[in-house]
Amino acid sequence: MTREELKAAAVSMLDRAYIPYSHFPVGAALECSDGTVFTGCNIENAAYSPTLCAERVAVAKAVSEGHKDFVRIVVAGRCEDFCVPCAVCRQVLYEFAPDMEIISLNGKGEELSRTLRELLPHGFGPEYLLKEE
Ligand code: THU
Repeated sequence: MTREELKAAAVSMLDRAYIPYSHFPVGAALECSDGTVFTGCNIENAAYSPTLCAERVAVAKAVSEGHKDFVRIVVAGRCEDFCVPCAVCRQVLYEFAPDMEIISLNGKGEELSRTLRELLPHGFGPEYLLKEE
């Protein structure tokens, strides 16, 4: 998938967002090293805290289908600012691919690219626990 196609996949998920409370749609398209793409949208809940972010929906779809080798993710919003992953989503992505690219889109479709390491420096990764074994 080209960069523009991946961006379009994330934007297309904005219409699937279940957002009766925030009215703030987020779409995500997560690309794996073999080219497989998993999409996600945010899914809100009346109890608020069970709300799922678009990025973590995409990660759950990927990992549950046997894909963990993430290369890049597009995060799309309809807001003025570039839509960045929240801290929890950064941590979830860091588990699998600390050097992946995070492509943030604003409502005009303009992009801002950063690495996950830039967004989450000195992250807590699996190495902290696995080397204790
Ligand atoms: N949201 C995401 O889907 N991804 C993020 O990284 C930031 C926040 C969603 C959660 C909630 O449904 C809405 O945006 C407002 O916080």
